[in-house]
Amino acid sequence: MIQVNLTNMQSFVTPNYETELAARVRDAHDKLQLGTGAGSDYIGWVRLPADYDKDEFARIKAAAAKIQSDSKALVVVGIGGSYLGARGVIECLCSANYNLKKKNTPNIYFAGNGLSSDQLSEVVELIGDDDFSVNVISKSGTTTEPAVAFRFFRKLLEEKYGVEEAAKRIYATTDRARGALKTLADEAGYETFVVPDDVGGRYSVLTAVGLLPIAVAGVDIDALMAGAADMMNTCAKPELAANPAWQYGAARYELYRTGKKIEVLAAYEPNFRFMCEWWKQLYGESEGKENKGLFPASVEFTADLHSMGQYIQEGERHLFETVVRLGASNTTNVIPFDTVNGDGLNFLAGKDMDFVRQQAMDGTLLAHVEGGVPNIIVNVDKLSAYSLGELIYFFEYSCGISGYLLEVNPFDQPGVEAYKKNMFALLGKPGYEELRAALLAKLNG
Ligand code: PA5
Repeated sequence: MIQVNLTNMQSFVTPNYETELAARVRDAHDKLQLGTGAGSDYIGWVRLPADYDKDEFARIKAAAAKIQSDSKALVVVGIGGSYLGARGVIECLCSANYNLKKKNTPNIYFAGNGLSSDQLSEVVELIGDDDFSVNVISKSGTTTEPAVAFRFFRKLLEEKYGVEEAAKRIYATTDRARGALKTLADEAGYETFVVPDDVGGRYSVLTAVGLLPIAVAGVDIDALMAGAADMMNTCAKPELAANPAWQYGAARYELYRTGKKIEVLAAYEPNFRFMCEWWKQLYGESEGKENKGLFPASVEFTADLHSMGQYIQEGERHLFETVVRLGASNTTNVIPFDTVNGDGLNFLAGKDMDFVRQQAMDGTLLAHVEGGVPNIIVNVDKLSAYSLGELIYFFEYSCGISGYLLEVNPFDQPGVEAYKKNMFALLGKPGYEELRAALLAKLNG
C-alpha cells in the first residue's frame, strides 16, 4: 500500500490548504474519471490496469518466453516514454547490474535513446556473438533516435540470421494501424504489439511498451498489473483521506504556489535511479508548459548527500523533497564487530544495514526540514512487482491531478517539437530549406 506522509511539509504551507483546494482537486479527479478535461483523448491509462487487451497480454508473455529461449540478449530500441519505464522497472526489481548477474534471462541493452555513436558501438560490442533479438518501440514510428538505431540493429540481425530469420527476432511495439514502423513491420512480418491510441508515451509503461522488456527480464507482469489495478481502485475514491494521489497532487501544487519551484525526488536505493528518470519525464513533460510547472529533479541518497547535500541543506530555498521510502531490503547484512575498532564504529556492530539506513533517512529528514526544505514522504511496501505497479499508477494519477490543478494539458508535449525542427533543418531534411538558412545565419553570426 502506498501511504503519503505530509507531516514534514505542513509548516511551510497554510494549514487549511487542503480545504481551500478541495473543490479544484475534486474537479481534476472528475476530469480524469469522466474524460472531460484538456487532452482527454489520452487518458486511456486511467482504466488500463483493468481494461487492457488480455489476448495481447498473453502474446507478450509468449514472446518473452521465446526471447528467453532463443536469445542471450534483447536490444530495446526506444526513447523517452518508449523506454524509461521499462528500464526503471527492470533496474529497480532486477538491479542496475542486471546484465552483470548470473541468470537464466537475456541481457537487456537499451539503444536508440540518444545519438551517441560510441554508445551504439558499445552495445554491438557487448552483444558480440550472442544470439539476440530486438524490440523496437516507437508510437509514432518516426522518431529519429530509435529509427536510426533500428537501422543498425536490423542490419546486424539480417547479416547474422538472414532476412527471414531476422524477422522472427524483431518485435515492433507501435501504433495499431499507422506510421512508418507499423508499415515496415507488416511488410517484413515482424510480430507487433500496440501502443494504444489513447495512451501517451510517458503513461505507457503498463502497455506492451514496458511489459515486453519487463517480462523478458523475468519480472512477474501479472503482479505488476495487479498492484496497478489495486491502486487504480484506490485513486478512484473521491475523498482526500482515502486517496494518496489527491494528497500528493494537492501538496506539491500548494508548495509550488508558495514559491517552491523545484521538486527533488529522492530514494535511498541506487536501483531506483531509473524510476526517478521515468518520474522526471512523467512530471516534466506533463507540467512544464505555458511558462509553468515544477522542475523535477532527482537524487540518490545517501550517495548524493555527499554531493548535492550541501545545496539542499543551505542553497537557495526554492525546492522541496519527495522521498520514496521503500520497505525492508530483500537481504540482511549485519555489521561485523572489529576488535581494533580503528574507525570507531563498534557501536554499530550487530546492527543491520536497514537499521543504519533508517537512521540516515530520519536524520536527513530532520536536517533538511530544519534547513527550510519541505519533505513529502511516499511510503512503499517491500519492493516487489506488485508494490512497483502500485507506485507507477500512483505517480501517474497524481500527475494527472497535479497537471489539471496547474491548468495545463497534462497529456501533450508541444515543446518537444522545437529541437526536432531545428535538427531536421540542420541535417538538410527536404522541406526545411528556409529554416535551415535562417539557423545557419544565426549559428555563423
Ligand atoms: O512521452 C512521450 O510522448 C515521449 O517521450 C515519447 O515517448 C518519445 O518522444 C518517443 O516517441 P515515439 O514512441 O513516438 O518514438
